[in-house]
Amino acid sequence: MCAIEVRPSIGTDRLVLRGPVAGDAPAITELANDPGVVGMLQTWPYPYELTHAEAWLAKVGRADPACRTDFVVEHRQFGVMGVVGVGAKDPARPELGYWLGRPFWGRGYATEAVSATLDWVKAGWRKKVVWAGHFADNAASGQVLCKAGFLYTGDVVTRPSLGRGGAATPSRMMVWLA
Ligand SMILES: CC(C)(COP(=O)(O)OP(=O)(O)OC[C@H]1O[C@@H](n2cnc3c(N)ncnc32)[C@H](O)[C@@H]1OP(=O)(O)O)[C@@H](O)C(=O)NCCC(=O)NCCS
Repeated sequence: MCAIEVRPSIGTDRLVLRGPVAGDAPAITELANDPGVVGMLQTWPYPYELTHAEAWLAKVGRADPACRTDFVVEHRQFGVMGVVGVGAKDPARPELGYWLGRPFWGRGYATEAVSATLDWVKAGWRKKVVWAGHFADNAASGQVLCKAGFLYTGDVVTRPSLGRGGAATPSRMMVWLA
């Protein structure tokens, strides 16, 4: 059992991280239906259709916010950009995941969103450790995680990617300590 505050809304200079709502489905579908996005994730298929987004939103709406929290990342001016989430079946081993739509890459938004999420994990959720893994061919994500304070554990595990048709893909594991 995890002890925690319910899903908050987090503001940064440029972004708002807030709880997902059913009306986010079209924007999430449009941004996620990109092999360059879902091909870097484990459980998001390609093509990514509206029904996938609706199912994902229903699932995160049912999740126990004490054990799993997903945020929609919204730009204060441009609207929905992507998603960041943290949680796990094993509450002692929460894992971070995130993606942004391609139009928003390369401007520091992921680092801003991940750093804000970790601030909340530490101060609001009171977790002291978060895990993450990025596919070995995703150096940009590794750089985001390094900038946010993660360190490589040295472990490389093979994980499936639905966005790559289920292909087993090497993943470099990282850890962050509060
Ligand atoms: C990975 C992703 C989140 C990065 O988002 P972003 O907003 O562009 O990230 P930022 O701008 O905060 O930082 C990206 C960093 O990676 C670096 N980078 C980009 N491409 C790179 C590459 N091919 N090799 C090495 N570093 C790279 C950038 O230079 C930047 O580092 P810097 O600030 O030190 O220069 C985004 O591309 C994405 O959503 N990709 C698809 C989904 C995904 O990969 N999710 C993560 C799964 S683990």
